[in-house]
Amino acid sequence: MVTDFKSRQEKLLGRIDHGAFIIPSAKLKTKSNDTEFPFRQNSFFKYFVGFEEDNALLVLKKERDGSIRRFLFVEPKDPTLEMWAGIRLGKERALELLEVDETYNNTDIEEKLPHILSGVSELYFNHYDPESREMVLKASQTLSRQRKNKSPKPHSWKHSLPLMGELRLVKDQSEIQAMKKAAKLTDVGMRAAMALSRPGVNEKEINTLLTYLFNQEQGEGPAYDSIVAGGENALILHYINNNMTLKEGDLLLIDAGAQVNTYASDVTRTFPVNGKFTEAQAELYSLVLDSQKAAMAHMKIGNTLGSIHLETSKALATSLKDAGILSGSLDEIMETGSYRTYYPHGTGHWLGLDVHDESPYLIDEGNDTLSDVCLEEGMAFTCEPGLYFPADDKNVPSKWRGIGIRIEDDLIMNESGFTNITSSIPKEIKEVEEACQGDLKSILNKLETLPLMAK
Ligand code: GLY
Ligand code: MN
Ligand code: MN
Repeated sequence: MVTDFKSRQEKLLGRIDHGAFIIPSAKLKTKSNDTEFPFRQNSFFKYFVGFEEDNALLVLKKERDGSIRRFLFVEPKDPTLEMWAGIRLGKERALELLEVDETYNNTDIEEKLPHILSGVSELYFNHYDPESREMVLKASQTLSRQRKNKSPKPHSWKHSLPLMGELRLVKDQSEIQAMKKAAKLTDVGMRAAMALSRPGVNEKEINTLLTYLFNQEQGEGPAYDSIVAGGENALILHYINNNMTLKEGDLLLIDAGAQVNTYASDVTRTFPVNGKFTEAQAELYSLVLDSQKAAMAHMKIGNTLGSIHLETSKALATSLKDAGILSGSLDEIMETGSYRTYYPHGTGHWLGLDVHDESPYLIDEGNDTLSDVCLEEGMAFTCEPGLYFPADDKNVPSKWRGIGIRIEDDLIMNESGFTNITSSIPKEIKEVEEACQGDLKSILNKLETLPLMAK
């Protein structure tokens, strides 16, 4: 059986004539003194081999005759260290369980890597990663010192990220399943947050509830720091302090998503703290929602994220013009970019193992030509228009000052258009207000595995 990992490795190596890819795992990062942040695997390493340990190294090699060899270096077994820090797989079990041909202890990288790379002239690695550069440099120097070794030395160093990132653009079925599961947990989290919100509740309580729910079932917690932004905090695009008490009459913007099998969801909902939009809030909310609908009408195979952003920006710019906030014709507004004062970010980004998935937006066609990536079946991305009005902006009607609204969903292209995998999360005004009246306990009781909540 060809596993997902083997198929991805083969696809990657299918893109080159011959050469080798150096793909390191993540390392633990110090939090303070001798404590570390929770481990988060490197997305490319996860994608190509699915191994969850730190300090490992994957080398994928394609010989000139087209044959493929996969090497994995792992932490050695060490009962004393394992007693403190957890069981390691070790090279024997790694060889049995993972899609590789040879496994070694990572203590042997310096000795073995030059040998593996002997005869390879094209070497692909992440040029932005100092440790990869160091490793490649050392191995290449060792090889060039071996005068008797007549085989070609790595003489061409190529950046691996564009090729590897391009592969990640189109999601396979197991990736789509993980993203759908993450979306489901995000749905529960958003509904619970709507039910819990009321004046006097602190952003921190909502944030904690989201984290708790994102850890249910196969959830691995939030895919990124949740943004729980009451009132004017919504004007700070990446607000993560999450410690203000929610106020009567304010909106609450939540940008949060669960992670499953390292795959992210990324959703934003904006709703009234007290459960009922004011007329002015509803009016503004509808403008953003309409711009998201305009964006979605443009999501067709062959279109680009750039053209979707243009359509969305035009819809928002038209609303800003009609409201008397921006002056000039629509063409002038688009030309000068004056709408960016109130809509300063893009409409969407690739989504997958990383919340801002590490895939290109432009493809190098050769001959100095770059072209936008066109949407294809299996591509996953967000759609997240918003409007943000500073509290002291005299160009904005006073009823809208100090308000920030964003609405964000996760989409996957299919053969006939797209699937909105977060569409079940309340979004229309009536649905949102109903969800705000929801009963938190009954939402929690619906989850099958709740260790802490009394049923
Ligand atoms: N949560 C970050 C973003 O929406 O891009
Ligand atoms: Mn987001
Ligand atoms: Mn996003």
